[in-house]
Amino acid sequence: MLILRTIAEMRDWVRTRRQEGKSIALVPTMGYLHQGHVTLLERARKDCEHLVLSIFVNPLQFGQGEDYEDYPRDLEQDSQIAEQAQVDVIFAPTVKEMYPRGQKTFVDVEELTEPLCGARRPGHFRGVTTVVSKLFHIVTPNFAYFGQKDAQQVAVITRMVQDLNMNIKVEVVPIVRESDGLAMSSRNVYLNEEEREEATILYKALEKARTEILQGQRCSKMIVESIKEFIAQSARAKIDYIEVVDAFSMEPKQELVGSCLIALAVYIGKTRLIDNVVVEV
Ligand code: PAJ
Repeated sequence: MLILRTIAEMRDWVRTRRQEGKSIALVPTMGYLHQGHVTLLERARKDCEHLVLSIFVNPLQFGQGEDYEDYPRDLEQDSQIAEQAQVDVIFAPTVKEMYPRGQKTFVDVEELTEPLCGARRPGHFRGVTTVVSKLFHIVTPNFAYFGQKDAQQVAVITRMVQDLNMNIKVEVVPIVRESDGLAMSSRNVYLNEEEREEATILYKALEKARTEILQGQRCSKMIVESIKEFIAQSARAKIDYIEVVDAFSMEPKQELVGSCLIALAVYIGKTRLIDNVVVEV
């Protein structure tokens, strides 16, 4: 397995693979790999002849006062995990390598980025779509893999690829959870023991909502209220948002019909966690 630090080296490697006519998969991450990331790598490994994992904590997608500096990083541990997952290349550029002159050019997906995390983290999705575009230009993958854990990110990147005619197939992998239901996340390391226990409330609340919908509830407001009430039981939990939107357009839904995304962000202590469920009604 290679670890490449520069764009020039990454491009050279890609050029050779392309000459051999081989397909390339890219799994973009910010590192501190867990089983969620590994599941993406496993899917990608099956689909393509060459597998590139990018690890880059992208400053452009963090807002002021967010956890850019504190975001967990461990390239050595990540390399071991990647090696086991049969990654061919880790592309791990520095910030200087990716943004040598700062950045004056941005990719901005309109409307889909307005609700949910977009409303609470201004500029976040512009940072995501810009860095993912750059990675796509550098690696030129045939396939790119993203997790449903970040449902809005999936919708936004899918739309970007369509709108900009990028010749890349976006593959979506379901949410990978701990045995008690907590969605895996690099940020879970921020939780202390009590917070970790209470963090399962996100999943439990979504499961309760799903059951209510299956039992016939069709009013989004009632579902949101029910989730709110459920989460209010936890003293450490503070709701950032709970919303019901269309799973593709991200438009708010008053009534539960079609592909409905129920998404939430909740602070457990100081740690902001997100989770979601898609219900086909
Ligand atoms: P990161 O949070 O490291 O996640 C990398 C990929 O792993 C994303 O597609 C994310 O949705 C997926 N993932 C994370 N946890 C998951 C889980 N529990 N189950 C399934 N998939 C999971 O998302 C980013 O990085 C960045 O925004 C990035 C796309 C790399 C751009 O900087």
